[in-house]
Amino acid sequence: MALNSINPTQTKAWSKLSAHYEAIKESQMKTWFKENPNRADEFTIEWEDFYVDFSKNRITSKTLMLFKELAKELKLEDAISKYFDGDIINQTEGRAVLHTALRAPSQAEVFFEGKNVIPEIQKVKLNIKTFSKAIIDGTKKGYTDKPFTDIVNIGIGGSDLGPAMVVDSLSFYGNHLKPHYVSNVDGDHVNEVLKSLDPETTLFVIVSKTFTTQETLSNATTIKKWFLKHGTQTDIAKHFVAVSTNISKVKAFGIETSNIFPMWDWVGGRFSLWSSVGLSISLAVGYDHFDSLLNGAHKMDLHFKQEKFETNIPVILAFLSIWYNNFFNAESEAVIPYTQYLNQFATYLQQAIMESNGKSIDRSGNKVNYQTGNLIWGEPGTNSQHAFFQLIHQGSKLIPADFIGFANSLHGNSDHHDKLISNFIAQTEALLNGKSKAEVLLEGTEVAIVPFKVFEGNKPTNTIFIKQLTPESLGKLIAMYEHKIFVQGVLWNVFSYDQFGVELGKQLANKILNEFDSDSSLSHDASTSNLLNYYKNSRL
Ligand code: F6P
Repeated sequence: MALNSINPTQTKAWSKLSAHYEAIKESQMKTWFKENPNRADEFTIEWEDFYVDFSKNRITSKTLMLFKELAKELKLEDAISKYFDGDIINQTEGRAVLHTALRAPSQAEVFFEGKNVIPEIQKVKLNIKTFSKAIIDGTKKGYTDKPFTDIVNIGIGGSDLGPAMVVDSLSFYGNHLKPHYVSNVDGDHVNEVLKSLDPETTLFVIVSKTFTTQETLSNATTIKKWFLKHGTQTDIAKHFVAVSTNISKVKAFGIETSNIFPMWDWVGGRFSLWSSVGLSISLAVGYDHFDSLLNGAHKMDLHFKQEKFETNIPVILAFLSIWYNNFFNAESEAVIPYTQYLNQFATYLQQAIMESNGKSIDRSGNKVNYQTGNLIWGEPGTNSQHAFFQLIHQGSKLIPADFIGFANSLHGNSDHHDKLISNFIAQTEALLNGKSKAEVLLEGTEVAIVPFKVFEGNKPTNTIFIKQLTPESLGKLIAMYEHKIFVQGVLWNVFSYDQFGVELGKQLANKILNEFDSDSSLSHDASTSNLLNYYKNSRL
């Protein structure tokens, strides 16, 4: 069954939230902290190895109560059941959205079109396990009988960002295989990667759900040609595997059936790292870690499905995001992990969040009259403190931020870790309290300089404190954001699981490509024609 279509701004709860916003918009969080000594405890959720403190937000218990009313009016509970039950909630593409089934335990039952999909998933997982083990332990070898040293994932978007981010995040758990990711159609990308590779000891994993993506097929073709300068056609079977739903296209590319890891239509690209799209994860960190990642995500699925909204982490985060986006008119959200391992996390989230909820047509096909989507950006702390934190602290924009930190480091160097975490905690304190004119004066600052040293404070943050970065906790963290995306899409009344917005540019690029070597030119606006001609005249 389809999701409901209700304009959120027409609900009673939305009107109440608007009135509530007017009443509290000038309130200072620090005053609330003084008035209520239990505020931090009241707005903290402790779950498994997660400690989520959302007390430094411009909310009261009434805000959450009204959001609960909103969720009720917009039938969030019903939507959650449909999501997990494999209903066709990706209505515009006629598909279910079942990435949660990929991490369900083997005894689970998830039905799609009357068939339990779990046995099929388990079969593919077993293939991933057997294959990765054989590559890692060296029983499967290259065409000159040498064990593999490098793996190259060739894919883009969801077929690249998820696995690349996870492998980078879990590099502490990595084995001897050196992972590489080739995504951009820019030939300089693939050539830089190839420079360091030995064809005799490199495994190539071509990942494309559709197997029609220009970037991936161009890179795969270039790599195949490079490989064939060394090995022969028959050696390809030992060095190239593919992950796709489009088996016939993979075969046409020259990959054997036994080297194809299938995936399914009901897994969206940006939510596919849990499927065989995650093959490079299993290769780089081993299947057991890959399985723990899935297990962590499954735990978050259960939390999201079963927990009441007041203490449901993804639900609360989604409420907060809508609160700032639609009532405070915040334009963006920052995600700041206090670990270098999560260096690629914001980039990964950009696709997951912006490709999902960057929509302006509601589920009835009408243009929305309210803001949807979030601009997502971020970099690890403490580096970002020395880059863009100035704007978060003293700029004219309101930027709610998620601070993600881990209580224990992986290398155990407590001196560094204490310094890191002192910054992690201090930044949210500074954003909350700011620094008043009186405080600046007290420091003996020259009067003319005082305004420049004042910090307004009252800047909202969530602190997501996790015991340690493990495959399991990473799985929980990613799934937390996936469900936050889902809740926001439901409440905003948009379809979160299609991505038609990426098509137009692709189509035009194909047309323009054909014009580069042709004398005739299609009709373009003057700017586009000039650019096209500039390129034609400039290229060597
Ligand atoms: O261009 C966007 C997109 O369709 C993403 O949604 C997807 O993850 C990516 O392209 C790659 O697609 P494929 O896996 O089919 O190559």
